[in-house]
Amino acid sequence: MAGRRARWCPIGEPPLQQRCPFSARSDGPGAAAGVAKEELGPLGKHIRDIILATGPISVAKYMQLALTSPIGGYYTRGQAFGREGDFVTSPEISQMFGEIMAVWFRLHWEMLGRPARTALVELGPGRGTLMDDMLRAARRFPEFFASIRGVHLVERSPELRRVQHDRLGCDAQQTKIVADQNAPERSVSVARGGIPIHWYDMLDAVDPDSDCVPLVIAHEFFDALPVHKFEKGTDGLWHELLVDVAESSNNRAVVLRPPGTQPQQQQQPESCHFKLVRTRSVSASAALLLRDKRFDVQFDKGDMVEVSPESARVMAQLADWISRRNGLGLIIDYGQDWTQGDTFRGIKNHRFANPLVSPGSMDLTADVDFSYLRFAARGKAACHGPIEQGAFLHAMGIQARLQQLLQATSDSKTQKDLVDCYRRLTDPLSMGRVYKMLAVLPGSSAVVPVPFAPPTGADLNKPKVEKIVR
Ligand SMILES: C[S@@+](CC[C@H](N)C(=O)[O-])C[C@H]1O[C@@H](n2cnc3c(N)ncnc32)[C@H](O)[C@@H]1O
Repeated sequence: MAGRRARWCPIGEPPLQQRCPFSARSDGPGAAAGVAKEELGPLGKHIRDIILATGPISVAKYMQLALTSPIGGYYTRGQAFGREGDFVTSPEISQMFGEIMAVWFRLHWEMLGRPARTALVELGPGRGTLMDDMLRAARRFPEFFASIRGVHLVERSPELRRVQHDRLGCDAQQTKIVADQNAPERSVSVARGGIPIHWYDMLDAVDPDSDCVPLVIAHEFFDALPVHKFEKGTDGLWHELLVDVAESSNNRAVVLRPPGTQPQQQQQPESCHFKLVRTRSVSASAALLLRDKRFDVQFDKGDMVEVSPESARVMAQLADWISRRNGLGLIIDYGQDWTQGDTFRGIKNHRFANPLVSPGSMDLTADVDFSYLRFAARGKAACHGPIEQGAFLHAMGIQARLQQLLQATSDSKTQKDLVDCYRRLTDPLSMGRVYKMLAVLPGSSAVVPVPFAPPTGADLNKPKVEKIVR
C-alpha cells in the first residue's frame, strides 16, 4: 500500500506537470510560432462550423465544447491522467491525500453531531482515486462508515464513469442506467463494501435521500468550468475576448495576441486554427457579468479579467443545498482569492500549451477565483478560507501519516518516493501554496472548521478583488 502511486513522482526525475501555473512552460505543442498546422479533428471542425455560421464564440463556449462535447471533448475521451496522460493530480500522487480528506470529513461528522445518515458527494471524480482512498480510510472509523448510505458522483464523461466504476470495485451485474425523467444521464451501481454508487451529469440532478447529510468534495473541478475573458479597452469599457477562426477576417472584432504569449508578440502562431478577437462594443456578457462597481474602479485600461458564471451557478446551488441539508463541503483547487486576468491555458503532455490549437486534444483550465465562489455563496452558506494546501495537510497530520507509511516498509526506494510525494503535496514551491482549500458550511452554523481560522465578522463571504501587479 505504501507508495502505491509514488511511481508517478520518482526521485531523480523531473516531476510531472501539475495542472497549476508554477513552473509554467508555454513550449507545448503548437505554442511557438512557425509550427505547421495539424489537420483539424471532428470537434475542431464542429467548432469552426459554429463560428462560421454564427460568428466568434465566447472563450467559455469554446472551453465547454473542447472539454465536454460528446464529439471528442477532452474529458469525454477520458485519457487525461497520469504519466501516460497529460497531468497528475494530488490524489494520484499519494494515497495520503485521500486519507486526510476522509479524516477531515470524519472529524466534522463528529462536530455536526454524528448524523446517522450521510451521503458522500464528489464533483469531477476523475479516475475515482480520491473517493476510493476516502472510502478505504473511512472504514477505519466504523460508526462514520456506517453512516454513509451512498456515494454520489457528478461526472459527465462516460469513459471516466467507466474508470470510476472499476476503481471503486463496482459490480457490473448490479450496474444499471436509471430511467429518470429528471436525470436522464443517471446510472447506479454497488461498490465493494456494498455502498450504492450513483452517477449524475450535473449537480442539479444529485438526489440523495432527503434525510442524508451531504458531505461534498470537489477537487480540481471548478478549474475545468468555462470562463469568459474580458479586456478593458482604451475607451474604459469592458470588451469580451472571443474565439474566431484563424483564417476568417472579421470586421466586428480586433485580433489579439494568443493566450500564453507576451503582449509585444502580436503575430498568431501558424499552428493555430483559432484566434482571439476583441469585440468592438461592450458585449451582453460584459454588461451582465461585470456589473459590480469593483470592475469599474479596480481595473485600468488594458487589464484583463476572467469570470466563470458557471462556477458561480454551481457554487450557489452547492451552498443552498449544504445549508438546507445541514451538510459540509470542501473545495480544493489552484487559484487565488481574487479575480485574475490571464490564466486560461492548455495542458498537454505535462506541459502548458496554446489552448487555441486542436480543441479536444488537450486539457483546458483557468485558475479558480475563490473570492467569486465565496461571493456566489453569500446569503446561503458560510465559507471559510481559502487556506493553502500545505498548511491544511500539515494541520491535519500528514507528517504523522507519512511516518506510519515509512515505518510500514523497509524498502528504501519506496521510502524515498513517499517523502518526495509528501514534499510535492506540501512544499510552497510545489503544490503547497497555489492549491487551496475552501470549506462550505450552513449559513446558520457556528462551527469553525478545522484548521480554518475563525472569521472576523465582516470577512465572512466578503468578495475580494486584488489586482495582480504585472
Ligand atoms: C481535472 S479533472 C479532476 C479529477 C479528480 N478530481 C482529480 O483530482 O484527480 C476534472 C474532472 O471534472 C470532470 N468535469 C469537467 N467538467 C465537468 C462538468 N461540466 N460537469 C461534470 N464533470 C465535469 C472531468 O470529467 C474530470 O473528472
